[in-house]
Amino acid sequence: MLSIRQSIYLVLLFSVSTCTALATNTEHHKYGTLNSEEYDHPELTIDDDIISMIGQMSVEEKIGQMTQINQDLVLGIDGVLNRTAVEYYAKNYYVGSYLNQLAVNGRNYDAADYAKIIEEIQEITLSVNSTFKIPIIYGLDHIHGAHYVANTTIFPHGINIAASFNPELAYESASITARDTRASGVQWTFAPVLDIPVNKQWPRVFENFGEDPHLSSVMGVASIRGYQGKYKTDRSKVAACMKHFIAYGAPYSGQDRDSTVVSERTIYDYFVPGFQAAIDAGVATAMESYIDINGEPVVSSKKYLRQLLRDQMKFGGMLVTDWQEMENLHTKHMVAATHKEAVRMAIADTSIDMSMVPQDVIFFESMMDLIKEGRVTMERVDESVARLLQLKKDLGLLEPNGWKADPKLQEMIQNDSDIEVAMEAARESITLLKNKNAALPLTKDKIKRVLVVGPAGDNLGHLAGGWTIQWQGATEDAWHGNVSDEQFYNNGISILDGMQNAVPEGVQVEYIQGFTIDGNDVNMDLVLEKAEDFDAFVVCIGEHIYSELPGNIHDLTLPQGQINNVEKLASFIGKEKHLITVLLEGRPRVLGSVQDNSDAILQAYLPGPWGGQAIGEVVFGLTNPSGRLPYTYPKYAGDTTLNYWRPANDIWDPLYEFGHGLSYSSFQYSNITVNGLLSTDEKQYLIAGEVEKEVSVNITNISPVDGKETIMMFVKQPFRIVTPPAKLLKAFQKVMIPAGETVNVRFSVDADLFRYTGLDGIPQNTIDNGAVKILIGDQEFELQLVNNNGE
Ligand SMILES: *[C@@H]1O[C@H](CO)[C@@H](O)[C@H](O)[C@H]1NC(C)=O
Ligand SMILES: *[C@@H]1O[C@H](CO)[C@@H](O)[C@H](O)[C@H]1NC(C)=O
Ligand SMILES: *[C@@H]1O[C@H](CO)[C@@H](O)[C@H](O)[C@H]1NC(C)=O
Ligand SMILES: *[C@@H]1O[C@H](CO)[C@@H](O)[C@H](O)[C@H]1NC(C)=O
Ligand SMILES: *[C@@H]1O[C@H](CO)[C@@H](O)[C@H](O)[C@H]1NC(C)=O
Ligand SMILES: *[C@@H]1O[C@H](CO)[C@@H](O)[C@H](O)[C@H]1NC(C)=O
Ligand SMILES: *[C@@H]1O[C@H](CO)[C@@H](O)[C@H](O)[C@H]1NC(C)=O
Repeated sequence: MLSIRQSIYLVLLFSVSTCTALATNTEHHKYGTLNSEEYDHPELTIDDDIISMIGQMSVEEKIGQMTQINQDLVLGIDGVLNRTAVEYYAKNYYVGSYLNQLAVNGRNYDAADYAKIIEEIQEITLSVNSTFKIPIIYGLDHIHGAHYVANTTIFPHGINIAASFNPELAYESASITARDTRASGVQWTFAPVLDIPVNKQWPRVFENFGEDPHLSSVMGVASIRGYQGKYKTDRSKVAACMKHFIAYGAPYSGQDRDSTVVSERTIYDYFVPGFQAAIDAGVATAMESYIDINGEPVVSSKKYLRQLLRDQMKFGGMLVTDWQEMENLHTKHMVAATHKEAVRMAIADTSIDMSMVPQDVIFFESMMDLIKEGRVTMERVDESVARLLQLKKDLGLLEPNGWKADPKLQEMIQNDSDIEVAMEAARESITLLKNKNAALPLTKDKIKRVLVVGPAGDNLGHLAGGWTIQWQGATEDAWHGNVSDEQFYNNGISILDGMQNAVPEGVQVEYIQGFTIDGNDVNMDLVLEKAEDFDAFVVCIGEHIYSELPGNIHDLTLPQGQINNVEKLASFIGKEKHLITVLLEGRPRVLGSVQDNSDAILQAYLPGPWGGQAIGEVVFGLTNPSGRLPYTYPKYAGDTTLNYWRPANDIWDPLYEFGHGLSYSSFQYSNITVNGLLSTDEKQYLIAGEVEKEVSVNITNISPVDGKETIMMFVKQPFRIVTPPAKLLKAFQKVMIPAGETVNVRFSVDADLFRYTGLDGIPQNTIDNGAVKILIGDQEFELQLVNNNGE
């Protein structure tokens, strides 16, 4: 039980100083300040050699490049590649891309296995008679580490990265993910996920960087730079894929893939910024979203996939559909009476380059017909094939042996420094929501025996959530999310183990499960029977493991059985003993009486399989919590669409606000100035088109404990022509502040921070005159905004 996990822990003890440096150095990769010449990006123009190839290729070869199929068409149920099938798809359909996890009946493949299978696909593809030898591009949903490849380092989910407010961790984890992915012969990851999860019931909340457009932009840019770097020459990098374009995070009912009803203004002001930042950072590919917006399916939308994405936002990279999306126009969206018409709508009217078909050849056949009938033009096909081949060239696939995995990259997998990044990301993300009477940290003068209780207390599956090893997470039963830890091969530290690693000498930690993730009794009697032997209880509850559709729920409240069991324990042990609740959940489930029955609440989100170490360290005070909520935590099950940037007049009664998070330190904000002047000095003006001003604020750690603080700058315009948001985050910086010390933090501000989509409907075209406020901590500064339009 001890060996592997314990020995890793020992190595980590010696690298604590390096991880601190990593965590505090947020400047270098910060969105906006980084020299973009250090990174590659797709060009809007196509290279001459690619144009010349297109001139010589047959129609069939071109359609093949636009075709992406699932691995199960060529991987037998025995897990062995069906060479005949690969040859069939190469010879007859010139298939240009494959996707998805290679695994069979619980048997997973490691990087060398992946590379071997994919290289076999490449060799067969390259052996067929065709005008040019064009390797396939393989894509995987590696959204938090190369989690489909066995024995790689799995990181916390996007929601934790967001909660860390540390873009360096987004960058580092994406870099390692890229290396492990490329080591597996795979050149493309479908990440980062840049949706704004407006509806908290949506089962994809955890994949994203939270509800704020600025935070999502910063983390998205940092991860794209980590995945891609100099991807045109660096063969340890992969193409990133910003997804899902656009407005996927606001399903009307909260159910995955449901229709979205959303205003154009909300799209431009809240959904577009993260994608625009990704484009500006050079993201190589994009994926459209499953939904329809006000009845208009995105996958066939000229407005969203041609005018907005290409013409306005200037995306020059490659665009792929989501799973089966062209077919969905016929079978789900009900806008095309036939499959062929669906393909016509999606291709002729948009700028989609590749169809994730994915389990037949119907796309290819429909396209051939449509071209013969003249309903899709060859110019349109060539436009897409140009982007597809340019991407393959940029990734090195057209170079001799450029499609082969580098065995040196395989040797680096699961390096100690990779695991340290995963742990550090977990440490910086854990968010202390409540800490009544300083119940945490548990110290040996307060307690002698701690009992860990609950379904998430002693496994890795609940730490890692969905999209881990399997699509539905490390589960035996997708719809119940029963955990199955074997496939982690001990690569992780459970909460129980993490607590045992971090426990002070003389204190004991034990575990009794008590109840299941559905809230059903396992052995609560035993928990209560033994309760008097313990003086603190760490109850690990949360959600079943899921991703996408199987994660749909109809009530945001935690399973009632879990709430009842916490209540049972709390009333049994009384007020003198501490009850600490740890939440392992992909979205903010309404806590009911858990809120009042807990002395302290730690929001761990889905911190990844190494997250137990971070939780143990926080519980015993070895790590001072510094995570902040990247979303609004609702108090009531009916409040599924609470977002802090709500219109200022909305009813507002959340349990915890966006940005909330306690620390074992206490911080005091003071001395806000703008251009060195106090708010009581003369009026200052922010004039559109004129130079920026500098906001300065001091933050003092007034406690005896060193701690990290995230300083957030919000802006607010109390009155404007279109009802304003309550406030909006525009900048943040996470800094380490030693006990008793003061740091000075500066942000620049200009009139553009107050841009929005006004009554003319032109995206982000309006700046209103009037008083505006800069809000940092409890500090506030009023300025006069002048738009210079004479309005
Ligand atoms: C391999 O694929 C071919 C062509 O699709 C199919 O006919 C054959 O049954 C497959 N073989 C196995 C062992 O699955
Ligand atoms: C993962 O690593 C463990 C320990 O080295 C090994 O036993 C196991 O076979 C590996 N898993 C795979 C799928 O290669
Ligand atoms: C395939 O090979 C034959 C000669 O064996 C040649 O005539 C033909 O053009 C080739 N087809 C393609 C698509 O390259
Ligand atoms: C592997 O980890 C060790 C120990 O943390 C570190 O010194 C080394 O730089 C790492 N190597 C790579 C390639 O990251
Ligand atoms: C999963 O858990 C549910 C409810 O706790 C149970 O009914 C089901 O039998 C379990 N499935 C497996 C495969 O263990
Ligand atoms: C705030 O500014 C005043 C006046 O410049 C200075 O005396 C004081 O030390 C500052 N306080 C902090 C906490 O920086
Ligand atoms: C705090 O603010 C004051 C006034 O703005 C400034 O002079 C001082 O240097 C700041 N203190 C620190 C430690 O940054």
